Amino acid sequence: MPSTLYTDISLLVTNDETLDKGLLGELEGAAFVEEDGHISWLGEKSQAPDADHRISLAGKTVLPGFVDSHAHLVFAGDRSVEFAARMSGESYSAGGIMNTVKATRAASDEELDEGIATRALEMYRSGITTFETKSGYGLNVADELRSVKLAVQHTEDVTFLGAHVIPDEYKSRPDEYVSLVIGEMLEACAPYSKWIDVFCDEGAFDYDQAKAILNSGIDAGLLPRIHANQFTSSRAVELAVELDCASADHLTHLTDKEIDLLANSKTVATLLPGAEFSTRSAYPDARRLFAAGAKVAIATDCNPGSSYTTSMPFCIAIAVRDMQFTIEQAIWSATMGGAKALQRDDIGSLSVGKVADFVVLDAPSYLHLAYRPGVDLISETVIAGTSIYRSNK
Ligand code: NIG
Ligand code: FE
Repeated sequence: MPSTLYTDISLLVTNDETLDKGLLGELEGAAFVEEDGHISWLGEKSQAPDADHRISLAGKTVLPGFVDSHAHLVFAGDRSVEFAARMSGESYSAGGIMNTVKATRAASDEELDEGIATRALEMYRSGITTFETKSGYGLNVADELRSVKLAVQHTEDVTFLGAHVIPDEYKSRPDEYVSLVIGEMLEACAPYSKWIDVFCDEGAFDYDQAKAILNSGIDAGLLPRIHANQFTSSRAVELAVELDCASADHLTHLTDKEIDLLANSKTVATLLPGAEFSTRSAYPDARRLFAAGAKVAIATDCNPGSSYTTSMPFCIAIAVRDMQFTIEQAIWSATMGGAKALQRDDIGSLSVGKVADFVVLDAPSYLHLAYRPGVDLISETVIAGTSIYRSNK
């Protein structure tokens, strides 16, 4: 396979802690070689070996591709009217999920597939190189099954979320719905899924239901993650830590005790800036998590109800402006933090042996991602050495 030397990089973010160059392992005037989809050499440009191709990135910043560890891309329909109502004072609740369930059930496979592909392309254009996606808008065996089957064509990180809410037809029989999820639905979906998730919150599933669901998923070979504390400080964080969930996501509300639990666990605390933005909720303060020593990720939560964005730069800008991340912490959380939330150590950083997933920014520093909110700075997105998006600016 031909090798490519990327050189004259103004600023390279490696996230390599062994370099002793700050949280982001920053190198100026660096270069690296990509071969066979991996980084085969990285260092000072004057020391760079020969390669088959040479690309100069003078004036540009390179960082590991963004890792979006929480998204809901399998859906049909639009809930912009609900968003507009919230902006005029109405509040968000889990109830709106059923509107998307109805539209998703009515959509053809082709429509759903095209929706996933369109949103995945938007993600690549925003610098995301790995994304997770959940089912959760089918909520019956056939529609959950086709959701995971379609999703797995687009990403390895498919999450079975049959336990998103109790669908209307089971409202008076919640226990029956839980039995369906952990029985026939899980059996059908597990072969196409890597993860299992549950929305453990007010208006969705309680601690006991969530525990039964996640444990059944674990027994079926899936790895657990959880929607926790979007509306209230419930027992979801306790459950996440108890079951060693890869990640506890949302965390809009957090007690000191819960922060302590997360900090002393392997569970990544994943914050979703787009969700507070789009539901006009108070933002959590990330300083509390960092001060306690928790591992933090930022994800888009792309979904039609509470966060219809595919833009990681937008989420980074909000995290910095409104959730008290430093810019360095936000960049780390959107790259390395996301990789940890997906339990991957071959992505999220750039050093010899890692997958060559990276983003080229049309800016002299990553600071511009927060400093120039809303401006498209993504010059190129590369996945495993292959350019999958190049801006024509
Ligand atoms: O992660 N909180 C639960 N699920 C989604 C929202 C789903 C919807 O409103 O359609 C979330 O924000
Ligand atoms: Fe979500």
